Amino acid sequence: MSDSTPSTENIVLTGFMGSGKSTVGRLLARQLRFQFIDTDSLIEERVGMEVRDIFAKHGETYFRERENAVLESLLNKRRHIISTGGGIVTEERNLQSLKKLGWVVLLKADPEKIFERISRNKKRPLLATDDPRASVMELLEKRAPLYEAAAQFTIDSSNLEVDGVVDLLAKEARKVFGWRQPA
Ligand code: S3P
Repeated sequence: MSDSTPSTENIVLTGFMGSGKSTVGRLLARQLRFQFIDTDSLIEERVGMEVRDIFAKHGETYFRERENAVLESLLNKRRHIISTGGGIVTEERNLQSLKKLGWVVLLKADPEKIFERISRNKKRPLLATDDPRASVMELLEKRAPLYEAAAQFTIDSSNLEVDGVVDLLAKEARKVFGWRQPA
């Protein structure tokens, strides 16, 4: 099996906050008739609190533990699109699970686009700093090699519409999973 052959029939979306994982994931799931799962939503469901409240009340270490537990609990899934939190690649223990889960796709976008998208939403605890732009740039730089190392396929969405990203991924998925092309 080559490094780019997925082990399981799931698609795992990774990438920085604001890279479009959830939006793309929902549409891709619809197109491929897969189920959609978002690890942040599952954590919120299981802990009974929103992500920003989990960070505020229990801290990031606790959040990362819950995130790892959620990831491992998904290992029996098939035909799912799994959208992951932007920090999932920062934990060494998650890397094996990501690969076991399926085809790992990195959604990339240029830093300015990312900042523009996420500055509209105040829910992200890691950006609740005095200088959110600097925080984004710093985290992006630190994480870029981690995303690259974990991914089996990368798509840059900076100059693409969401539908274009979804179509391209659906097409690529057909190839990597060996599905027949639609007539
Ligand atoms: C985080 C990204 C968030 C969420 C949490 C931490 C990160 O998910 O998991 O706020 O460390 O980048 P999104 O990437 O879906 O925003």
